[in-house]
Amino acid sequence: MIIAVLKETSEHEKRVALSPEVVRQLNNEDLQIWIEKDAGLPSNFRDSTYEDVGAVIIDSKEELISKAGILLSVQAPSDEDLSKLKKGAVLVSFIWGLQNPELVSRLLESGISALGMDAIPRISRAQNMDALSSMSSIAGYKASLIAANELDKYFPMMMTAAGTIPPSKALILGAGVAGLQAIATCRKLGAVVEAFDVRPAVKEQVESLGAKFIEVELSDQETETKGGYAKELTEDDKLKQRELIHQHAKKSDIIITTALIPGRPAPLLITKEMVADMKPGSVIVDLAAENGGNCELTEAGTTQVVNEVKIVGPINLPSQLANHASTLYAKNMLALLNLLLKDGKPNFDFEDEILLNTTITHNGEIISPLIKNN
Ligand code: NAI
Repeated sequence: MIIAVLKETSEHEKRVALSPEVVRQLNNEDLQIWIEKDAGLPSNFRDSTYEDVGAVIIDSKEELISKAGILLSVQAPSDEDLSKLKKGAVLVSFIWGLQNPELVSRLLESGISALGMDAIPRISRAQNMDALSSMSSIAGYKASLIAANELDKYFPMMMTAAGTIPPSKALILGAGVAGLQAIATCRKLGAVVEAFDVRPAVKEQVESLGAKFIEVELSDQETETKGGYAKELTEDDKLKQRELIHQHAKKSDIIITTALIPGRPAPLLITKEMVADMKPGSVIVDLAAENGGNCELTEAGTTQVVNEVKIVGPINLPSQLANHASTLYAKNMLALLNLLLKDGKPNFDFEDEILLNTTITHNGEIISPLIKNN
């Protein structure tokens, strides 16, 4: 069977689905690994390195897709590419089925078995497949570096012959995977860090990274779903939260926002009035930019300067660290393929919680309970 890797074509996408290291581990007598010519180049993997570990480089995209038993990519392929896949072929990529019902319909119509890398359940057994966590961690790290670059101050305290410079103050809003990595990176760079999340469970994790957890007295204590995700706050609690964030924002040099609620627009945490009250030269990096933003003034893909405050709305941060992002994504893929493949062939065992939740479509049916019940 042929496992084929597409060259990504979306704007801002430099990642590739398989690294040469993972090709080496996947390669066996049952599988042939085909890589589209130059697919790895944007993440600095040369075709020759793939060939050295047994992959075949294919120049014709048409041939690659039409002969693939399993097609791997980061972003879901275009309609045109999907139409070339043979019926019954398997696609593994980010799908975001809830947000892309048209894509799900097309996968159903073409009889493709699609597995969504965004749909891996957040359970211990699936940790090595959890691409959302791998990519969020990269985003949190890179957001901190962007903040450090945009700020016209040192992060750490500096004792110089000319005098002592106090450390910068960072405020991290949302302490999930990206937020925790942002806290760790800002701390390593020497900033004093405060963090806030609606899920009180993260207090201990925030404190273990050396940051201060800001606590809000919320009237609705049920802020977390059974799956461990945040719920939307009541209007009353939103106001309380904004009031407290306002007080802390005034004193901060950097704010990194990472707050998301699955299936909902990103919560608004920083209003334009709060920005107006911030110190000149402060920097906001809004990781929720692509989901509407946590700051009212964020525009995805741009840096705004309002009242001398810089508001950065990055798009696809993991792609800016393409080499390591691809390395980790490929390892997540390998773990999922090891679960899916039996004797070199896909085996859709829906008794398995991971395969059940990750498979979006199979044999013309929707399998994922999340998509089916929506
Ligand atoms: P996410 O990307 O959906 O959200 C980011 C953070 O924003 C979350 O911590 C959320 O609580 C927070 N947030 C939402 N609304 C907010 C508001 N109004 N104000 C402040 N913060 C707000 O979350 P992520 O990083 O994907 O993690 C989701 C959950 O999955 C977490 O409970 C995490 O611990 C868990 N998880 C479990 C794993 C496992 O056991 N294998 C692996 C990774 C994550």
